[in-house]
Amino acid sequence: MYSYEWPVPGILYGVLVTSNLAKGRITAVDSAAAEKEPGVIAVLTPFNAMKLPGGAKPDTGDRVVQVFQDDQILYSNQPVALAVADTFERALHAAALVRVSAQPLPFTVRMADELHAAFPHDIRNAAGSRPADQLRGDVETALRQAEHKVEAVYETPPETHNPLEPHATLAVWSGDRLTVYDATQGIFGVRKKLAKAFALPPGNVRVITKYVGGGFGCKGSAWSHVVIAALAAKQLGRPVKIALTRPQMFGIVGGRPQTQQKISLAADKDGRLIALRHESISTTSRFDDFIEPAALVSRHQYQCENVETKHRLVRLDIGTPTFMRAPGESSGSFALESAIDELAHELGIDPVDFRLKNYAETDPTEGKPFSSKSLRRCYELGAERFGWQKRTRRPELMLRAGKLVGTGMATASYPANYTKASALARMRPDGTVLVQSGAVDIGGGTYTVMAQVAAETLGVPYEKVRFDLGDTEMPEAPRSGGSTTAASVASAVEAACRALRQKLDAMGGRPRQPVEAFGEVAPSEERKKYALHSFGAQFAEVEVDPDLGMVRVTRLVGAFAAGRILNATLARSQFMGGMVWGIGMALHEHSVYDEKLGRIMTRDLADYHVPSHKDVVIVDPIFIPVEKDEIVDPAGVKGIGEIGITGAAAAIANAVFNATGKRVRALPITPDKLL
Ligand code: MOS
Repeated sequence: MYSYEWPVPGILYGVLVTSNLAKGRITAVDSAAAEKEPGVIAVLTPFNAMKLPGGAKPDTGDRVVQVFQDDQILYSNQPVALAVADTFERALHAAALVRVSAQPLPFTVRMADELHAAFPHDIRNAAGSRPADQLRGDVETALRQAEHKVEAVYETPPETHNPLEPHATLAVWSGDRLTVYDATQGIFGVRKKLAKAFALPPGNVRVITKYVGGGFGCKGSAWSHVVIAALAAKQLGRPVKIALTRPQMFGIVGGRPQTQQKISLAADKDGRLIALRHESISTTSRFDDFIEPAALVSRHQYQCENVETKHRLVRLDIGTPTFMRAPGESSGSFALESAIDELAHELGIDPVDFRLKNYAETDPTEGKPFSSKSLRRCYELGAERFGWQKRTRRPELMLRAGKLVGTGMATASYPANYTKASALARMRPDGTVLVQSGAVDIGGGTYTVMAQVAAETLGVPYEKVRFDLGDTEMPEAPRSGGSTTAASVASAVEAACRALRQKLDAMGGRPRQPVEAFGEVAPSEERKKYALHSFGAQFAEVEVDPDLGMVRVTRLVGAFAAGRILNATLARSQFMGGMVWGIGMALHEHSVYDEKLGRIMTRDLADYHVPSHKDVVIVDPIFIPVEKDEIVDPAGVKGIGEIGITGAAAAIANAVFNATGKRVRALPITPDKLL
């Protein structure tokens, strides 16, 4: 059951009214026509909504929200009112009748307008915080003296998450206790935000999330509608639920920021990298700072004495962007891995050989050893599976049924994140086991793999174990973001089950009363001494129609080294999902703004293109056994939710170059860029 579907008697339906303007001040909201319609209970606006007891900005290090506490319009599609009725259809109809008057203010959604005001911003994510800039060696001199150089700007567009389940929140109050069923990747973050907004102790707020229909980062934060649902339920004294419509997914709940990335690379005549500079600029809103850490990948990907990376932000009048599958590494690897391909081509060295020549045995910027790597095996096995040796090295016409055919490859990597997590395991006298942890399952198979891990650790059959999650009454687990869940929660489940096993062994077998044990894990000091990443190699074959400029990815092979694989079927599916999204990133996805209106115009799945089955021909992930990594986390698991998309867009762009001789440095690779 998804969050919107919980059967709650007397539930009211809320539908958001959103702003047509990109910036302004609301002067009036006319809801008279809406309120006259049958079944309409109320229209909440900045003029009649209750004031939040926790203050106008219930921000907890999470995204800043717009929840009817003031008259400001900060971006197009911002929530400005909520129509509430006794059925969804009546609420939708009422929302359409609400008229918002506002005084427009000047704005821009164009990155070029604000580049002059770009500013550095440090990076904070699941892997910790890092400075915006890093310099090792003397990049300037190395670049000046180099015989072979590539210097280019790569661009990635704003993109929008489109999980099949849109965001949805159902809020029920009972006195000063709030229960929320929310489509979220992290129930404890939602609890924290709501507790702050309503000035409640966190224990008064319960968040439940049993199934999530896709997360991908947009559900990693509690956005405006979450607070609005709780506010409406409080003010109206009845449970209220809100689901975003598909067009409301565009702007209110994040999206991938636009990036401009300048890469400067230099190599000596033998193909050894001697300088690497990666300067990334990404967009954020006027009122909140989300930074896409696109240059981080260049800090660890290749051996190089002189490396410089920089991150800058520019503010636009847009909704705040957020994490989107492999935030940083997906956009950053497009730039870096395209530039590496350009340099290999200029040197006349095979792209795999070039990467092997510059293989980093230790982290090149921090000097730390990798906890495990196995990237060489990924190159080898991926190349073998793909048939890379048959490749034609120079871009020249290779025709198949009238189409130009080309191949390309790229390196994939993503940090192996691991955070504090806890779990509870209980055996009943009948021998069945219940294991609980307040994690969520965003579609990756958390229920299945955690039951497996518990069964293996306890030495009981899988059928005897039930794993339950998604409730803040359970032991705390991290947000399912940054590919942390499998690593963190599996380690906690193992700890709880080992403790339970010990108790059971001490008792000499099956208990007469239920017996339970708690397990908690957290990153060790030892872990900080290592560079921790998953790695992989992506290989793409494309066909390009020379008359129409249409690109088709006919084959995508990815070889990944991602630690211990808990379930091969589910892992394959995760890798495939990431790689398919790589096709979307390379060829389709683009939240196109109307710059005069400041509004995303591609606000449904007809206009916002994602790969369909016809766009996905062969997607073939393989994963390779790695040496047991005991440093990364106790379970030896590296997350796999995100690495599949990294490098994929570059491999495809590199294949397009191989097929056509055209280097497209701005995604997506649409026909107009090839004709
Ligand atoms: Mo992931 S983009 O950190 O949900």
